[in-house]
Amino acid sequence: MQFIEKLYINGRWQKPSTNNSLALINPATEQVFAKVSLASEADVEKAIVSAREAFPSWSATSAAHRALLMNAIADEMQLRYDDLVAAHVTAMGCPISIAGAYHVDCPIEAMRYYANLAATMDEVEEKGTVLITKEPVGVCAFINPWNYPLHQLIGKLAPALAAGCTLVTKPAEQTPTADLIMAEIMHKVGLPAGVFNLVFGIGSEIGPIMASHREVDLISFTGSTRAGIEVAKTAAGTVKRVCQELGGKSAYIITQDADIDAAVRYGVEDVMVNSGQTCNALTRMLVHSSKLEAVIKQARLVAQEQVVGDPLDDNSSMGPMTSEQQQQKVLNYIEQGIAAGAQLIVGGTQMPEGLKSGYYVKPTIFARVSGDMSIAREEIFGPVLCIISYDSIEQAIEIANDSIYGLSSAVYAKDKSSALKIARQIKAGQCYLQGSYFSLDAPFGGYKQSGNGREWGSQAMAEYIEIKAIICD
Ligand code: NAI
Ligand code: MG
Repeated sequence: MQFIEKLYINGRWQKPSTNNSLALINPATEQVFAKVSLASEADVEKAIVSAREAFPSWSATSAAHRALLMNAIADEMQLRYDDLVAAHVTAMGCPISIAGAYHVDCPIEAMRYYANLAATMDEVEEKGTVLITKEPVGVCAFINPWNYPLHQLIGKLAPALAAGCTLVTKPAEQTPTADLIMAEIMHKVGLPAGVFNLVFGIGSEIGPIMASHREVDLISFTGSTRAGIEVAKTAAGTVKRVCQELGGKSAYIITQDADIDAAVRYGVEDVMVNSGQTCNALTRMLVHSSKLEAVIKQARLVAQEQVVGDPLDDNSSMGPMTSEQQQQKVLNYIEQGIAAGAQLIVGGTQMPEGLKSGYYVKPTIFARVSGDMSIAREEIFGPVLCIISYDSIEQAIEIANDSIYGLSSAVYAKDKSSALKIARQIKAGQCYLQGSYFSLDAPFGGYKQSGNGREWGSQAMAEYIEIKAIICD
């Protein structure tokens, strides 16, 4: 068993100043696979101070220098590919055959993508007597979730490094190992001491220290809406920038004249990705009532194609939930859906066939879900899809927008131009048309209670930048 008894602070591996540790559980075996020791308040303080001390020289480096280091980091990530895959398989239960594609490929590409954008920091806009320049915002604190540990880290880290910021990052309790590998990589490529600091800890204990600290200029949080609100409240006292990427209950409108089989396949597969633990999953499928029976038939078929099982088995397409807590939460929602009278068309609360242990949940689909049911309104964060019927496209748009969330959405219509007309009326940060997939060029973030700010795309750089106007007439 691995004992991770170190933090990465100021360019050195340091022992935490407490003896508190946390057991990491493999969700497929329910066995402890590692122990990680936790940072104290003093350790977090040290990490923030070292990020502050590193800021003046790192922010003064040339864009070309930062890009060079970032490309070296990407090269090292490629070399450590199998380790990064293993981190996701063991800590999250992601099937080994797809963990690279889900969790590692995009972060490597993203590192290079933002290395290319480092040069945009030098752009100066001239408007008459005004010069508009860009400067890095300063010391950043990152708090990340367990559902896409590496992807979420790189989504913050890469634009921050490109901009010239320094940082302290805290992974989720369940999934620290990908971050540990990244710290090893930072050390190997020779990133200056203090630019990247890694602390492990309990969110409710060290999160508030990061959020309230005077020497932290920006806090970027991804996770539950509950914790995201706490972070913003705690951060308010020091008027730092707060970026939040929170929950979702994204709607997917399939029009009456769309290719139903293709549209439903896309929607069901989208929800089952990562065992449904995806913030932008299209968990509300809105279908015309005249097509409901055809939709149910196809949805059941696609769900039954999923192979839920041992992450180490090459045939598995879905692993367990990342934690027992998450499994229990999802099963509880399935019970609520059944009790509320939704029609369970596939899945349910039993363990998938052939599995006796592990935090598994069957791919589950409800039809005839009404808008007032908790399964239609709340983020379940598991492999549970709700099919909701509508009678007119106006009604579909109304249902889509009837949510406290607005992270993502999708439309499948007869053709792209009819889909686009609907997309423009949905209140969400993204809208995927005609079966499209995630793109690094697409800014990602939420309307309403799904968050504030945008990650990914070139827009992500804006989070890490202070704009300075220099006026001389
Ligand atoms: P969580 O929000 O508690 O955990 C996410 C991160 O926040 C972790 O790093 C955790 O240590 C940290 N955290 C927790 N409390 C904090 C606080 N008071 N201050 C600062 N940081 C804090 O989420 P949890 O409890 O693991 O999952 C519950 C639900 O949250 C899920 O079922 C899902 O609905 C949602 N969630 C959404 C995510 C997303 O990507 N939008 C990611 C993870 C969870
Ligand atoms: Mg908002």
